Amino acid sequence: SDFDTLIKNGLIITAADRFHADIGIKDGRIAALGQALGDAAEVIDAQGLWVMPGGIDAHCHLDQPLGDGAVMADGFHSGTRSAACGGTTTVIPFAAQQKGQSLRAAVDDYHRRSEGQAFIDYAFHMIVTDPTETVLKEELPALIAEGYSSFKIYLTYDDLKLNDREVLEVLAMARREGAMVMVHAENADCIAYLTELLEACGKTAPYYHGEAHSAIAEREATHRAISLAELVDVPLLIVHVSGPEAIEQIRWAQSRGLRVYGETCPQYLMLTAQDLDQEGFAGAKCVCSPPPRDPAAQQAVWQGLETGVFQVFSSDHAPFRYEDPKGKKLHGDQAAFQHIPNGIPGLETRLPILFSEGVVQERIDATRFVALTATNPAKIYGLYPRKGTIAIGSDADLTLWDRAARTTVRNAELHHAVDYTPYEGLELTGSPVLTLCRGRVVARDGKPTGEPGYGRFLECDRPQPARPRGFSKGF
Ligand code: URP
Ligand code: ZN
Ligand code: ZN
Ligand code: ZN
Repeated sequence: SDFDTLIKNGLIITAADRFHADIGIKDGRIAALGQALGDAAEVIDAQGLWVMPGGIDAHCHLDQPLGDGAVMADGFHSGTRSAACGGTTTVIPFAAQQKGQSLRAAVDDYHRRSEGQAFIDYAFHMIVTDPTETVLKEELPALIAEGYSSFKIYLTYDDLKLNDREVLEVLAMARREGAMVMVHAENADCIAYLTELLEACGKTAPYYHGEAHSAIAEREATHRAISLAELVDVPLLIVHVSGPEAIEQIRWAQSRGLRVYGETCPQYLMLTAQDLDQEGFAGAKCVCSPPPRDPAAQQAVWQGLETGVFQVFSSDHAPFRYEDPKGKKLHGDQAAFQHIPNGIPGLETRLPILFSEGVVQERIDATRFVALTATNPAKIYGLYPRKGTIAIGSDADLTLWDRAARTTVRNAELHHAVDYTPYEGLELTGSPVLTLCRGRVVARDGKPTGEPGYGRFLECDRPQPARPRGFSKGF
């Protein structure tokens, strides 16, 4: 037959276009788009469905070694299985350098953790915590050339943060080597100061995590990161932006022609500080950094998605079980907020939430949904056009959506290994009913159909959007 698989009668939606066409898949790639394409070993009828590029979750944490005894509940096995069931076909988690460790060792270790585990394709970002001379002059240039072309740096957390001079050296290296830098922008000293004040008056419940991680601390660090990047003349991506203060800084930079990109996540649309204020210790389930803010912040984040301030929508899946001495209860269920492992699960719910709340509610259109969840991350992290679009020659990573299907989020029906979802009971319209990774069906009707070890490691090119100014935004 002409094709391995033919997807017929669907409405194809990319970041740019929507059109009716059949998709012919051969050897895991899109080989033809059109009508009456020929015959195939397998025919999938997509009548009435939308066919979109499979999601790329460009910010998630899987099996990341942590210094304090906490253990992530999801590795590549359960994490990518869960992602696939939610319509995602590529994840980019983090190979994290411990202070004193070589970056190469961190990357090698992360390959060992992922080998043979993944249901869908994956690339690595690195986390750079110890930018020694060797790391900057030897390891990073080599790793970037080998396909690890993006990394995250932190301005907060004692075991991760860089000082401004270190940030400048790292940014200068990224400029020379063509890497994309992601930054966690919160001011560490502001948070430490507020934490001590709160603790001194007994305000240690999970709720006060939100007060300690003030939006002013996020704004300051966002502005500082932008300024350092401008000084060096290198693009920068601000991850997990929570509200209007940081958004204003990013918009300001963009309006001045700087290549500053923004990422936000479902928790900043769906949760507020009130979700940290629950009976007993349960607010710990929603402790993440930056924390969810208030309804006005949610509106500002929506507006940022609508108006193009944000290019990327990721989960920031950080999987800690609630009822677990290696999870949220690492220091017991009376622990002060600053000892609660940070993060929220969300690999499987990321796309259905943005689809329902964004596309179905008509806050963003379907093409912007595709841009935010697949095409832009592929471009920004050097995977385009292999990933992130529906085009001849691209990998056949496709998600078929039933835009009328109604579901209710139930943790019991998710495929991660976390024992809760912050979105329990949320009613959604629109479902990923079939997900293909390189032409193979990896999930059907919210259930996994693939197998661990099918997913391949992806080497990333140096991203065009990481090039210094010279203009044309690259989209
Ligand atoms: O609270 C969060 N977001 N934890 C995950 C690690 C990070 O900083 O993204
Ligand atoms: Zn972060
Ligand atoms: Zn994160
Ligand atoms: Zn602790």
